[in-house]
Amino acid sequence: MDLKSDILLEALPKHIAIIMDGNGRWAKQKGMLRAFGHENGTKSVRQVVEASAELGVENLTLYAFSTENWKRPKLEVKTLMKLLISSLKKEIKTLQDNNIKLSAIGSLNLLPSKVYKELSEVMEATKDNARMTLTLALSYGSREELLNTVKEISNKVKNNIISPEAIDESIINKHLYTQNLPDVDLLIRTSGEQRISNFLLWQIAYAELYFTHTLWPDFTKQDLYKAIIEYQKRERRFGKTSEQLS
Ligand code: IPE
Ligand code: IPE
Ligand code: MG
Repeated sequence: MDLKSDILLEALPKHIAIIMDGNGRWAKQKGMLRAFGHENGTKSVRQVVEASAELGVENLTLYAFSTENWKRPKLEVKTLMKLLISSLKKEIKTLQDNNIKLSAIGSLNLLPSKVYKELSEVMEATKDNARMTLTLALSYGSREELLNTVKEISNKVKNNIISPEAIDESIINKHLYTQNLPDVDLLIRTSGEQRISNFLLWQIAYAELYFTHTLWPDFTKQDLYKAIIEYQKRERRFGKTSEQLS
C-alpha cells in the first residue's frame, strides 16, 4: 500500500533530520562485514532524498558521520570516507535532476582532502538549486558546534562588534553551522536506539521525535511517509494548552 496519499501536503515538516543508524547490525544479520551495511545504506539515502524532494520538504539533514565516529577502527573510517566520495560522484546527477542544493555541517576541515574536494565541488555545482536543501552532517558534533559558536560570539564581543546584552537566540542561530536552516520539526532515528548521540542539540529543542526499529539499509520511501504521517497526528503545543491552539 502506498502511504503517500495519506500525507497532508499543506502540513509538511519544514525540516526533517535523520540519524541514519543500524548499518552494522544489518550487515551482521546477513553474515556480512559492516562495510556491506554502509554500502546498502546509501540506497536508503537516495530513497529519502528523492521522497522528501517529491513531497516538497524544504530541508533534509542527514547525520552521516559524527565527531565520535572518528574513534571507530581505522579501516571502517576509511571505508566510510571512500563511500562518501563515490556517493558524491554518483549522486550529483540525482541532485541536479531534482533541483536539490547540497550543503554540509561539521568540522569539515578534519575530513580527508579528497572528501573535502568532492564535497566542495558538489556544493558549488548545486548552490543555485532551490527545491530542497540537503545537508550532510559530516564530522559533526553538536557540542563542538556550540563550542565554536561560543568562541565566535566571544571574539565579536571582545572586538566590540556585539554587546553582551545583545546576545539573543537569533544571534546564536546565526553562528551555528545550521545558520540558514529553520529549527528541526521532525527528528527520525532508525535501528531502535533512543538517543540523540550529539546531533543538533540546540536545533531540536521542539522537534517531534520518531524512533523506529527498522535498520537504516531497510528504510524506504514508505518508512519516511509513515514517519511524516505520525508527525502530522501529533499536537505541537509549544508550551500552550490544547484549547489555546484551537
Ligand atoms: C550508522 O550505522 C552509520 C554510521 C554511524 C556511520 P552504524 O555503523 O552505527 O551501525 P550499527 O549501529 O553498528 O548497527
Ligand atoms: C550516530 O550513530 C551517528 C550517525 C548516525 C552518523 P552511532 O551509531 O555512531 O551512535 P551511538 O554511538 O551508537 O550513539
Ligand atoms: Mg550505530
